[in-house]
Amino acid sequence: MPIAERAWELMAIAVAPTQQCQGLGTALLQWVIDAVRDSGASRLEVGTGTFGYQLAFYQRAGFRVSAIERDFFLTHYPEPIFERGIQLCDMLRLTLHYDRSNP
Ligand SMILES: CC(C)(COP(=O)(O)OP(=O)(O)OC[C@H]1O[C@@H](n2cnc3c(N)ncnc32)[C@H](O)[C@@H]1OP(=O)(O)O)[C@@H](O)C(=O)NCCC(=O)NCCS
Repeated sequence: MPIAERAWELMAIAVAPTQQCQGLGTALLQWVIDAVRDSGASRLEVGTGTFGYQLAFYQRAGFRVSAIERDFFLTHYPEPIFERGIQLCDMLRLTLHYDRSNP
């Protein structure tokens, strides 16, 4: 969804658990990156947890950490979220800049 002039946020991306780790997520993410670039955007943002494979998933596609929103998962979700036994508390905001040679 659009969040500012020429800036979009990827709100959610998911692949069915039985179909993960086959490259589908990377292909979906690349489709979104290309579509948003083609719309004339200067940046694409996404929020994710502060740990886990998702961080590598996004950074491999060119996203970089741009901010941290402390307590995001504590204040925006009705139930606690755990990944690998660790509670998600803070959200990292990652940004892909299209018009910088160093993203
Ligand atoms: C994130 C997600 C969309 C990636 O989709 P995918 O089809 O599995 O992606 P790919 O096959 O292109 O794999 C991307 C990398 O993530 C890793 N990965 C994917 N699912 C994983 C899982 N359940 N556990 C550990 N690593 C996982 C893959 O191993 C791969 O890394 P590698 O190439 O170094 O092995 C998918 O795992 C998913 O739906 N996760 C749950 C929802 C979610 O976390 N969405 C993102 C919210 S920020």
